[in-house]
Amino acid sequence: MTEKKTWSDRFEGTLHPAIARFNASIGFDLELIEYDITGSIAHAKMLAHTGIIEQSEAGQLVAGLEQICQEYREGKFNPGIEQEDVHFAVERRLIEIVGDVGKKLHTARSRNDQVGTDIRLYLRDRIDEIRHRLRQFQRVLLRHAEARVETLIPGYTHLQRAQPISLAHHLLAYFQMAQRDWERLGEIRSRTNISPLGCGALAGTTFPIDRQYSANLLGFEGVYSNSLDGVSDRDFAIEFLGAASLIMVHLSRLSEEIILWASQEFNFVTLKDSCATGSSIMPQKKNPDVPELVRGKSGRVFGHLQGMLVLMKGLPLAYNKDLQEDKEALFDAVKTVQACLEAMTILLDEGLEFRDERLAEAVSEDFSNATDVADYLAARGVPFREAYNLVGKVVKTSLVAGKLLKDLTLEEWKQLHPAFEADIYEAIAPKQVVAARNSYGGTGFEQVRQALAKAKSLVEN
Ligand code: ARG
Repeated sequence: MTEKKTWSDRFEGTLHPAIARFNASIGFDLELIEYDITGSIAHAKMLAHTGIIEQSEAGQLVAGLEQICQEYREGKFNPGIEQEDVHFAVERRLIEIVGDVGKKLHTARSRNDQVGTDIRLYLRDRIDEIRHRLRQFQRVLLRHAEARVETLIPGYTHLQRAQPISLAHHLLAYFQMAQRDWERLGEIRSRTNISPLGCGALAGTTFPIDRQYSANLLGFEGVYSNSLDGVSDRDFAIEFLGAASLIMVHLSRLSEEIILWASQEFNFVTLKDSCATGSSIMPQKKNPDVPELVRGKSGRVFGHLQGMLVLMKGLPLAYNKDLQEDKEALFDAVKTVQACLEAMTILLDEGLEFRDERLAEAVSEDFSNATDVADYLAARGVPFREAYNLVGKVVKTSLVAGKLLKDLTLEEWKQLHPAFEADIYEAIAPKQVVAARNSYGGTGFEQVRQALAKAKSLVEN
């Protein structure tokens, strides 16, 4: 690189080396280089289309930019701190390659609309990748759910055994969360996919540019209609961080359940060697590191959301250098969400096994069929609250006697209430308890099969 000085001839001196380091973003914004080049190619073509530069000049600019992209991919383009940021680095290299015509590229453009363009193009692609990963995660959930419609698992409220449910129903709850995440990201994608290119530094430009033309070339769905808003808006990034945070909330909740399920206390799943780790001192341990890390990493994504909100709240219009701080937060959140989705998908796909016998045992060793006894009476005309109190009493005496509801004799049932008949045993058997909750959205097997079919049709498109 030949030029030492970045700024116009207004500047006589150069930056203090420590300040240059402090100011530079090249250490992290090189990640945007391919988007920067794509954006510049569209800008160059627009300049020629509108007659602001010659077609032949645009041709040279495009060829030079493509060469830089090639150099970068081959590992031959490694700009240093003296370049300040990716935008300057590319422009300077372009001038080296194509000569003075390279100095025309920045006509009718500012780094402010340029960086806004880059970051939107970057995020648009990452959103597509994350949505694809969400789909893979959903497919694995579906595969397990399909095989587990009639596998029962205790359902909890307050982490107390509440009512038994279909394991498929439990897994489909996570499917639904992922579905909302997928939809939400689709909506955010459209608001991200708006072009700020041509907003200039803040006020537009004196040149007869065609913003729609470059937006079309870049696949943007529209253009910002206010130049100040265009260069200073980061709503899309905040929305993305909000959506990313929710994905992490969902993954973290599933992680927490898997951690509990893998404990000796629950013992509902076994972690396979490919997805578990040992202890350096306790030879018997098998640790659920994957879900623990996912649960832990959720914190940094929430932090980035908070950081970005605070970053924006006091900014006067339009561009301020503070905005340079948006990138590391966004990049880290993107990478964290992608890595967590990948790890959880692998964990579900091949890293854990449900312990069917233990699950079957778990749903028949407690009082989680008590509601069904009350429902039994209520269905036979006893007011529900009365039935509820009656069953409460039976649970109390059974607990003292060390019995479960299924252990009561028909005589004992009849003593309690004459409405009880021999079919009470069938009514409180775990399978029946689950099958009977056939209200829309409930855990009844019929409902779960319908929910599965709907879920499958969602991931097909
Ligand atoms: N590196 C800067 C950023 O990331 C590029 C835009 C700089 N614009 C400016 N007016 N200093 O935001």
